[in-house]
Amino acid sequence: MTFIIAIDGPAAAGKGTLSRKIADTYGFHHLDTGLTYRATAKALLDAGLPLDDEAVAEKMACEVDLAGLDRSVLAQHHIGEAASKIAVMPSVRRALVEAQRAFSNREPGTVLDGRDIGTVVCPQAQVKLYVTASPDVRARRRHDEIIANGGSADYEAIFEDVKKRDERDMGRADSPLKPADDAHLLDTSEMSIEAAFQAAKILIDAVLNPN
Ligand code: DC
Repeated sequence: MTFIIAIDGPAAAGKGTLSRKIADTYGFHHLDTGLTYRATAKALLDAGLPLDDEAVAEKMACEVDLAGLDRSVLAQHHIGEAASKIAVMPSVRRALVEAQRAFSNREPGTVLDGRDIGTVVCPQAQVKLYVTASPDVRARRRHDEIIANGGSADYEAIFEDVKKRDERDMGRADSPLKPADDAHLLDTSEMSIEAAFQAAKILIDAVLNPN
């Protein structure tokens, strides 16, 4: 049976880096499910289509190709904002969740990260992590990352954005962001990604090799 690791949490909590490291370590396939929402949003924006027409957005969601997802073309801030908006639409979620579930069954194992993996997409996952950090720490990390990449960034604006995104992701009626009842909480506010990885590895190894 495929071994599934579900990693959920708010924007900029460090899920992506952690998920990639876990997938590399165990030789598992990795899917950043945020990219599926971002790709749908970008397709709508590129085609000049509205972000508030659910039938149109659903059609775009059905056409998302998981093999073609590339964070470097989907990372832009306005695409993340648009993704968060179309992510409230139940029929968009239904289409993307179907593709995500198909991916989750790849052998020998998969790591999926997002907002609703442990609660909705793969409630049967053998390991569930809920990775979080305070809004202040997440805004600071995002700010420092932009500066490190040579960009310019305004901390206050990023902080407001992080809070707005949390409200939308946690407040929506369909599949809101929340920890699954059986998820392990990893608060990375005062933890490096390496320390978070070591903590996750202990939890995963305990399930993979119970003896
Ligand atoms: O993680 P991210 O910033 O790439 O995600 C972009 C948006 O997509 C996020 O604000 C909410 C949505 N999303 C979701 O609703 N469910 C997921 N499993 C992943 C992302």
